[in-house]
Amino acid sequence: ESTLGAAAAQTGRYFGTAIAQGKLGDGQYTSIASREFDMITAENEMKIDATEPNQGQFNFSGGDRIYNWAVQNGKRVRGHTLAWHNQQPNWMRSMEGGSLRQAMINHINGVMNHYRGKIYAWDVVNEAFADGNSGGRRDSNLQRTGNDWIEVAFRTARAADPSAKLCYNDYNIDNWNWAKTQGVYNMVRDFKARGVPIDCVGLQSHFNSNSPYNSNYRTTISSFAALGVDVQITELDIQGGSATTYANVVNDCLAVSRCTGITVWGVRDTDSWLGSGAQALLFDGNGNKKAAYTAVLNALNGG
Ligand code: G3I
Repeated sequence: ESTLGAAAAQTGRYFGTAIAQGKLGDGQYTSIASREFDMITAENEMKIDATEPNQGQFNFSGGDRIYNWAVQNGKRVRGHTLAWHNQQPNWMRSMEGGSLRQAMINHINGVMNHYRGKIYAWDVVNEAFADGNSGGRRDSNLQRTGNDWIEVAFRTARAADPSAKLCYNDYNIDNWNWAKTQGVYNMVRDFKARGVPIDCVGLQSHFNSNSPYNSNYRTTISSFAALGVDVQITELDIQGGSATTYANVVNDCLAVSRCTGITVWGVRDTDSWLGSGAQALLFDGNGNKKAAYTAVLNALNGG
């Protein structure tokens, strides 16, 4: 196959990208995106600050623009993200305790009801674990509402849209030896044991010199999958853009049947949150395919 999406589809998987609404008027950007990818994540437009800028007043203009573009171009959509310490609107930032807990529940219901039946998978909770060696939760206003906030978010989400897969999504949980990875693994194992509804784990997979790709990534994927959840690579980018590393990531996903898809976090290097100098994506700033692109395509095609 000659595109990423078609090549991934041969293996029963998807290949996606993050899309920013501000770039939908850029013809080079949209032509690459519509040609190559078959799963779309809104880079910012379905986040809490975008979708509920004032408490109880929902705004789906940006999210809908991206959703409609995706569906009109034959693509599915991942939802990102419902409960997160970051990109909270000002009204939520200052909240705590029971009222924040209820606001989180109302937010999940409001957004998931709007997109009910339309989303392949939601990142229900994003980045709730701490970096470093603790393996524990990150401090945040949500965490301070009580340790059960994550399972409450997942139970709320399941009731709001039973057709969406429900994911826990985080970065720096790619290396199997890291305490953060083990912390998330233990939470998912506990959720599965207690019947808390969770369907998938999102490995963001932002690789750089501080958190480089490690060959135990395949163990991470297979270990999560063995808990009975799908694994999705949700925000892949590799600082420096090593073709070999990109191929390794794809091959590690292909080696695990429950690794169901890969999303790169942007189209061209110039679209990356890391800036173009990081050269972290599959297309250069002129829209040309990079060596990393060819390595990914070849891996998806089985070679
Ligand atoms: O919308 C404003 C715009 O009005 C203003 O003119 C402009 C000036 O700086 O800022 C715009 O907002 C920026 C927004 O991106 C849209 O471009 C924010 O400042 C900026 O902080 C925001 O960055 C996003 C970041 O999440 C924020 O947390 C990145 O685009 C986005 O790629 C990044 O994505 C995250 C995932 O959601 C979660 N995992 C990590 C990943 C990378 O950080």
